[in-house]
Amino acid sequence: MKYQASDKRYKDMVYRRSGKSGILIPAISLGLWHNFGGIDDFENGRAIIRQAFDSGITHFDLANNYGPPPGSAEINFGKILDLDFRAYRDEMLISTKAGYLMWDGPYGEWGSRKYLISSLDQSLKRMKLDYVDIFYSHRPDPNTPMEETMMALDQVVRQGKALYAGISNYSAQQTIEATEILSSLGTPCLIHQPKYSMFERWVEGGLLDVLHEKGVGCIPFSPLAQGMLTDRYLKGIPEGSRASRGEFLKKEQITPAYLSKITELNKLAMERGQKLAQMALAWLLKDERISSVLIGASSVKQLEDNLLSLKNLEFSNEELNRIEEILK
Ligand SMILES: NC(=O)c1ccc[n+]([C@@H]2O[C@H](COP(=O)([O-])OP(=O)(O)OC[C@H]3O[C@@H](n4cnc5c(N)ncnc54)[C@H](OP(=O)(O)O)[C@@H]3O)[C@@H](O)[C@H]2O)c1
Repeated sequence: MKYQASDKRYKDMVYRRSGKSGILIPAISLGLWHNFGGIDDFENGRAIIRQAFDSGITHFDLANNYGPPPGSAEINFGKILDLDFRAYRDEMLISTKAGYLMWDGPYGEWGSRKYLISSLDQSLKRMKLDYVDIFYSHRPDPNTPMEETMMALDQVVRQGKALYAGISNYSAQQTIEATEILSSLGTPCLIHQPKYSMFERWVEGGLLDVLHEKGVGCIPFSPLAQGMLTDRYLKGIPEGSRASRGEFLKKEQITPAYLSKITELNKLAMERGQKLAQMALAWLLKDERISSVLIGASSVKQLEDNLLSLKNLEFSNEELNRIEEILK
């Protein structure tokens, strides 16, 4: 049936500014790293994106290598745009990235101008887009001058192939360098995408302060620690879950020590009238320097559950202290 977006789609979503830019980002954004590839159920992915857009999620995050196979998430996203969303393109903020291995030979990964620009051209073809909203350097390249990588981001923005530039997985010090180069080129860095969750807190050791100081937004990825910060693994490892597939989240990562923390956090979430996933997202969003949390979902139900986190973003000091105790 022809898709018609809900006319209530902007009713409940909260939008936050990305740093000191003009761009508002939904507090919850959807990433297509898993569940949208060539091996996945196309209609399930399509239903998740429809539900997301109907709920005010305007931001969809991709990368050249998402699949599997690499590239297939962008191909599928292009098909979903064709089927349902071309008419809504101006209501969508679509990002892609280049940095990890995408093709054979010396020009298929890292941070050279050659790789970044040809990769973005390929991504645009796969999604059948004239431009993406945000193009990221997916990871810093220790062997390419930072100037070269940033000049490539600046160039694609000037060419209109991307509207904004972003960086991902850059340390606090690398972020200072990258943002200063980008500013000097006249293309400010819009946003940084770091891994950040209750279980992965390296950004608190400096990066968040740098981003705030430089006026750059922050969109944490894997905010649910790939599903560990949900009720998914409380009673074992369900068939079909990410840990059961074992590629990016290994069964062995769900140790008794983590399970005990998850169980305690789950109790506290229930006392707050939330699911653990909702509390884990709210805990990140309580910090206003966080522009959005970038979630994944393998079903419409998970997405709907996660959206409900926005109903309660407040924490008492006692709750925050209890969380710190549990996470010790
Ligand atoms: N820049 C980078 O280097 C980088 C790296 C990784 C990710 N990312 C971006 O961040 C996005 C999100 O990453 P992620 O998928 O790891 O995020 P996540 O939100 O931490 O994990 C998502 C997974 O958790 C489970 N889940 C989600 N909601 C749930 C709920 N309510 N109840 C139970 N289980 C739930 C699902 O796993 P099941 O499959 O088990 O159902 C889902 O696929 C990616 O799509 C990508 O856009 C970027």
